[in-house]
Amino acid sequence: MQTVLSGIRPTGNLHLGNYFGAVKNFIKMQEDNNCFFFIADYHSLTTHPKPEDLQENVRKVLSEYLACGLDPEKSTIYIQSDMPQVAELYLLLGMNAYVGELERTTTFKEKIRKQPENVNAGLLTYAVLMAADILIHNAHKVPVGKDQEQHLEMTKKFAKRFNQIYGVDFFNIPDAYNFGENLVKVPGLDGSGKMGKSEGNAISLIDDPKDIRKKVMKAVTDAGPVEKNQTKPEVIENLFSLMKLVSAKDTIDFFNDKYNSCEIRYGDLKKQLAEDVIAFTTPVRERIMDIYNDTDYLNKVMKMGKEKAIESGSKTINEVRKIIGFRPFY
Ligand code: TYM
Repeated sequence: MQTVLSGIRPTGNLHLGNYFGAVKNFIKMQEDNNCFFFIADYHSLTTHPKPEDLQENVRKVLSEYLACGLDPEKSTIYIQSDMPQVAELYLLLGMNAYVGELERTTTFKEKIRKQPENVNAGLLTYAVLMAADILIHNAHKVPVGKDQEQHLEMTKKFAKRFNQIYGVDFFNIPDAYNFGENLVKVPGLDGSGKMGKSEGNAISLIDDPKDIRKKVMKAVTDAGPVEKNQTKPEVIENLFSLMKLVSAKDTIDFFNDKYNSCEIRYGDLKKQLAEDVIAFTTPVRERIMDIYNDTDYLNKVMKMGKEKAIESGSKTINEVRKIIGFRPFY
């Protein structure tokens, strides 16, 4: 049986990028794999959240996960900071990670650009903590979006390096995973690349229909096609990519034909896209609200996840300690 793991930072509401990039694929894998899904609250400290917001954000994201179909009976769903073994593995892996390779990570370079006032060591070693998340359960597959590909490559590198240094075959070499051939990148509504929490270009699962209509109608377009069957510029391709996620094939074919014959009206396309997004998100939004208000259930899920995660994490960290030459602890 394969071990599958994925995670998400509790820094905002779950959006379509999170869902189609990671959560959806994970849900498909719950049936016949040993699955771990966690909320990366240690990771979220790189942006210095207020203590009173931290718990609240964790509960929100947990409700969203469960509403999407993550099943605590089938998977281990847990909070990263509930399993301190991951912090120990992070420390140990950090001893074999080189500053040069960490500085060259694309996400680190982007953070330096975006938050020059807060370039903390947690950002530099972000990929090491992510590797620890994955290796603490010795995962084989990691369902993530395209944006996490480089982090996964670093995890492979750290796992291989550990095995090599100690002459063991202990860590599996995990793979980024998507059911389609390529990892998914869900575009944002502003034509500027990926949908993201901090980019302000996202449609969240919790957004109400009015907000969704407003956001989609404001999406960036161009002046329209000038030649029949021309290649679509990126901003237009992005809208079609979103449609492919939520709309029926007939709808996509209809607007494609209109584009190819230069008769397209972007207003019509956006209206249809907004309605299709709403049809997709409405049942999920309703479930999120129900689960979020059920404190007992959320507490029960967190407790169950914590116990299962600690059991698996302790086993790994004990082995790692032995391999390194420490006494086992757990
Ligand atoms: P985060 O919180 O930014 O995003 C969570 C998941 O959603 C995917 N995703 C996307 N996929 C496609 N298109 C998009 N526009 C898009 N936006 C987000 C991400 O690829 C991710 O799978 N570092 C991770 C959290 C993490 C993690 C891990 C993930 C920490 N440790 C170990 C997997 C394994 C992050 O910041 O994801």
